[in-house]
Amino acid sequence: MKVKISNSIIYLFGALGGLLFGYDTGIISGAILFIKQDLKLNSLTEGIVVSSILVGAMIGSAISGALSDSYGRRKIIMISAIIFCIGAIGTATAFSIGTLIVFRIVLGIAVGGASTLVPMYLSEIAPSESRGALSALNQLMITIGILLAYIVNYAYANTVGGWRWMLGFAFLPAFILLIGMIFLPESPIWLYKKGKESEARIILSQLRKNKDIEWEIDEMKKANTQEQGTLKDLVSTWTRPALIIGIGLAFLQQFIGCNTVLYYAPTIISEAGLGKSAAILGTIGIGTVFVLVTVISIWLIDKLGRKKLLLIGNVGMSLSLLMLWAMNSFLKSSSSYSAYATILFLASYILFFGATWGPVVWVMLGEIFPFSVRGIGIGISAVINWLSNLLVSLTFPMLLEKFGSSLFLFYALMGVIAYIFVHQKVIETKEKSLEEIEFDLRERFEKSIKSVELN
Ligand code: BGC
Repeated sequence: MKVKISNSIIYLFGALGGLLFGYDTGIISGAILFIKQDLKLNSLTEGIVVSSILVGAMIGSAISGALSDSYGRRKIIMISAIIFCIGAIGTATAFSIGTLIVFRIVLGIAVGGASTLVPMYLSEIAPSESRGALSALNQLMITIGILLAYIVNYAYANTVGGWRWMLGFAFLPAFILLIGMIFLPESPIWLYKKGKESEARIILSQLRKNKDIEWEIDEMKKANTQEQGTLKDLVSTWTRPALIIGIGLAFLQQFIGCNTVLYYAPTIISEAGLGKSAAILGTIGIGTVFVLVTVISIWLIDKLGRKKLLLIGNVGMSLSLLMLWAMNSFLKSSSSYSAYATILFLASYILFFGATWGPVVWVMLGEIFPFSVRGIGIGISAVINWLSNLLVSLTFPMLLEKFGSSLFLFYALMGVIAYIFVHQKVIETKEKSLEEIEFDLRERFEKSIKSVELN
């Protein structure tokens, strides 16, 4: 079907999977309170219902990258949208704990798929000078999805069976995504790689409007010498540094504590001495700050570059966590001070995470891997991200009980490790075409081999 659509619509729809990622992971924090009563969950089944989406996400991200290498980005995003629809209806109508868990896993498969496919699709259709900003639309959609989830939680909190509406609401954006993808173009580089040069040219000239596309086609040609790579190629050749960067960023994004702050902000705030309703409203406030700072990062990412943003983020987040620890350790007796200080430093943590590690990690995962191993590379990194997310979320309540606010010191230390990792290993990708990034990696590898031989 040939319908002319503007570029901004293409990018917005391309990023819509991010909204479902954010909504479906965010909605459970409110819904679980009511599911617990309705389906009579104990603490074990409650934990499983909450975290089963993360297990599904690991499966989804493991398979979707490689599938999209074979069948195309667009087709697999459409299949994810169908799975999102099934998951939304299935969880909303579940009448037993078992079916709820099964459909949460199904939903997770789609979430994992979106986390792998959206950054890859956006980075492949965007022009290099604004690729950071356009790929960061994914994170903007994630944060909008989280905020929407908080608002829907709040709106249905007093409705009988409200949790079913909370979970079912996700059907709407999933269905819009499905319809939207019918009209969206396939990734030009994927088409080119599959030998469909003329189709790639048509889509590229639509995307670049009046600009010259010959140099992009040329770059694709140059980067097109290698066949589809396997996992072995990814691990054992010049692409290995990309894998190290991908896995490192994916792991560290979770272990610097972002989701502990997000998932447990209401608990942290209410335990800091403010009431329950302040905690819920505080959550909506946090969600709003999150969306706003992501907009700032969209503006900054192609100007300052990815690496600088990551480093600034680490300094800001580690200092905020250090202050959270200090406030909670030394100001315990005067609770209202410590409550407000806690909110202040939670907010500053979110400010730094939202403007740096939130968007930059997914942007970089979309651009760091050479084409021949892109799907597998992003897939593996996303699996690591979801696994780390699962580990941190499952252990946080227990560790908080045991270590109290000293736990924030651990996340602050992880921030320092992340700083060193970025400083030493991460390469800057700002303003480079995906093919230039690929040449860069190859050149570094050849240089390192030469220096080993010389020694
Ligand atoms: C992270 C998620 C997180 C979300 C919102 C994403 O970049 O990967 O784990 O929930 O941002 O903070």
